[in-house]
Amino acid sequence: PATTRDRLRVAIQKSGRLAEPARDLLASCGLTWRESRDKLFCYGESLPVDLLLVRDDDIPGLIADGVCDLGVVGRNVLVEHDLGRTANGQAAALKEWRQLGWGVCRLDIAINDDEQWTGPEQLAGRRIATSFPRTLEDWLTDKGVDAQVVTLSGSVEIAPRLGQADVVCDLVSTGGTLAANALKPVETLLHSEAVIAGPFAPLEDGREEIADLLLRRMDGALRLKE
Ligand code: PRP
Ligand code: ZN
Ligand code: MG
Repeated sequence: PATTRDRLRVAIQKSGRLAEPARDLLASCGLTWRESRDKLFCYGESLPVDLLLVRDDDIPGLIADGVCDLGVVGRNVLVEHDLGRTANGQAAALKEWRQLGWGVCRLDIAINDDEQWTGPEQLAGRRIATSFPRTLEDWLTDKGVDAQVVTLSGSVEIAPRLGQADVVCDLVSTGGTLAANALKPVETLLHSEAVIAGPFAPLEDGREEIADLLLRRMDGALRLKE
């Protein structure tokens, strides 16, 4: 059997949109940490809850592998991960333990400003740049549209100008990025927000009790903010 681990490990984004609010949320639960020198691992002082600072895209995998117990991550990242597992014939490993109501965004198809939009069939045979290929492919299959998915890990919005793609499928929050790149949103694939992700299976070695305590405090903190 794997070695036991009796401290809860929570993965959060190291830098980016969800990094600050995730830390603030955990701090509002009364958590304090002693930071390691490289700040990728923060040892919890007030509760046996340690933080792991990682790339958001790595969070679902870390939980699925049991390296971390919980994570603060966008639903978009969770959905993309789950579709990867299903494609490999694996069962979904993660679920949303809580919805946090911030980090709200949409995964949208966006086309050139000056193009008319008639519907998904317009995408047939075209190249669509995205960082969420499985979510996009799932949606295309659902719409019965055959298009070419171009996977990029970032800067998706400049792909049309670079001639890498004709259309993009990217996250939209304020819409500023699309507008700055002469693109307009035409279809929504997914409504996203920050969530607490965790396994379907119960936690072991006393970590379930720590997680319960943390989530009770979190529910209190979230209620106070309403
Ligand atoms: C997302 C998305 C867009 C931007 C949209 O990127 O990829 O670039 O936000 O936000 P807006 O509608 O408010 O302009 P993000 O900054 O989260 O990180 P990234 O570098 O991983 O794309
Ligand atoms: Zn990311
Ligand atoms: Mg971006």
